[in-house]
Amino acid sequence: MTQPLRLGIAGLGTVGIGVIKIVRQKANLLASRSGRPIEITAISARDRSKDRGVNLADYAWEDDPVKLAQRDDVDVFVELMGGSTGPAKDSIEAAIAAGKDVVTANKALLAVHGQALAEAAEAEDHVIRFEAAVAGGIPVVKSLTEGLAGNDIERVVGVMNGTCNYILTRMENAGLPYDAVFEEANQLGYLEADPTLDVGGIDAGHKLALLASIAYGTKVNFDGVHLEGIQRVTIEDIEQAADMGFRVKLLGVAQMTGRGLVQRMTPCLVPASSPFGQLQNATNMVMIEGDNVGQIVLRGAGAGEGPTASAVMGDVIDIARGTRVSTFGQPASSLRDVKSAAVSSPAAYYLRLALEDKPGALAKIATILGESGISIDRMRQYGHDNTSAPVIIVTHKTDRQSLDNALAGFQNIDVLTTEPVAIRIETL
Ligand code: NAP
Ligand code: HSE
Repeated sequence: MTQPLRLGIAGLGTVGIGVIKIVRQKANLLASRSGRPIEITAISARDRSKDRGVNLADYAWEDDPVKLAQRDDVDVFVELMGGSTGPAKDSIEAAIAAGKDVVTANKALLAVHGQALAEAAEAEDHVIRFEAAVAGGIPVVKSLTEGLAGNDIERVVGVMNGTCNYILTRMENAGLPYDAVFEEANQLGYLEADPTLDVGGIDAGHKLALLASIAYGTKVNFDGVHLEGIQRVTIEDIEQAADMGFRVKLLGVAQMTGRGLVQRMTPCLVPASSPFGQLQNATNMVMIEGDNVGQIVLRGAGAGEGPTASAVMGDVIDIARGTRVSTFGQPASSLRDVKSAAVSSPAAYYLRLALEDKPGALAKIATILGESGISIDRMRQYGHDNTSAPVIIVTHKTDRQSLDNALAGFQNIDVLTTEPVAIRIETL
């Protein structure tokens, strides 16, 4: 009989336990599809005594994930602990040095150290696979590295953080403020241990940087991602946007331009009727445009035990079958350094300003916009109280530099009572 593929799993949380359940419950299916049995030989986590709801007695236990990665009875090291440094990095390095293939769901690690780890693995003729790291159960890494490999990729656009999409849609559907919904998300266990990773756009930025590397054959450049989180999006923004036919999404865009690689992960207004506008709760969606294929859209669960474990198993089965694709779709040593483009294509912007309610305040704002070369498309003043008058301005298309000039200009006139909010309007 063909030799089994033996897994060592480090991390027995949501994803790790999901993987163990699939391996146990679908042994025959996995063996049929892989052409060989898939077995777990050893496991590791911090707390051996924790009840994890599955019987782990059949597997050897290692307190130290590095030791697990070095075991002779492990062919594939499956890293499901998380973290951009520490045990995750140490154990993957140990696995590579010990001649193992690696499967991980760890976007934070790969966004920072992916290039070095992929080069190290490929130098030893081993692979690191990471489908579960981007958009959970959606096979977007496989789509880009394999199914779309015959295309020049023109644009990758995505909602890739389920927590942020949950918060934004829940705010709109329940009419609740950000703080209340953030707390709900916390109670539901949606937030990362460090919630800034989610709401600050960092987690989604990690994912975008990984996809951009595959799409454009460039070294992962997370530092080049222009990041803005959703913390400053208010229920007023969501309601005003809805009134104009838009929804607010944390949207990522990666696009190669003549000036360099644009990577941005920022709140955007999208048409409410568009596929991204329709995306509810924690669902993820990635749209890829290729020169031959045109536009394709992938949509599904971006997190959770089943979807994420499904993605891990897709990678494991590939390794069992002998399918060996380079981490970023081409040899890591051939990936190019890339210049980041600071500015992206012109767009209309939604501006929310709180003005002192006094004569001439609005005129000063209009003057600065005019002097910055920005034309106003729509404007409304609503619900002002004794101290401040909220104003929404939708601009005609303008470039980001002009907008930044205007925002800087607003700081020099004493009519704003709070920091202005500027949200790009993306027509998809
Ligand atoms: P989790 O539920 O917090 O589980 C983490 C596991 O790692 C726990 O079993 C923990 O041990 C173990 N661990 C942490 N530090 C360790 C150490 N120093 N040594 C040994 N074990 C250690 O995390 P998760 O949600 O499963 O996420 C795992 C990975 O998948 C992360 O990279 C995450 O970003 C990624 N991911 C998760 C999802 C998702 O939906 N959850 C989706 C996509 C990607 P104890 O249980 O003993 O504390
Ligand atoms: N915190 C992430 C999210 C988990 O909300 O999408 C999946 O990567």
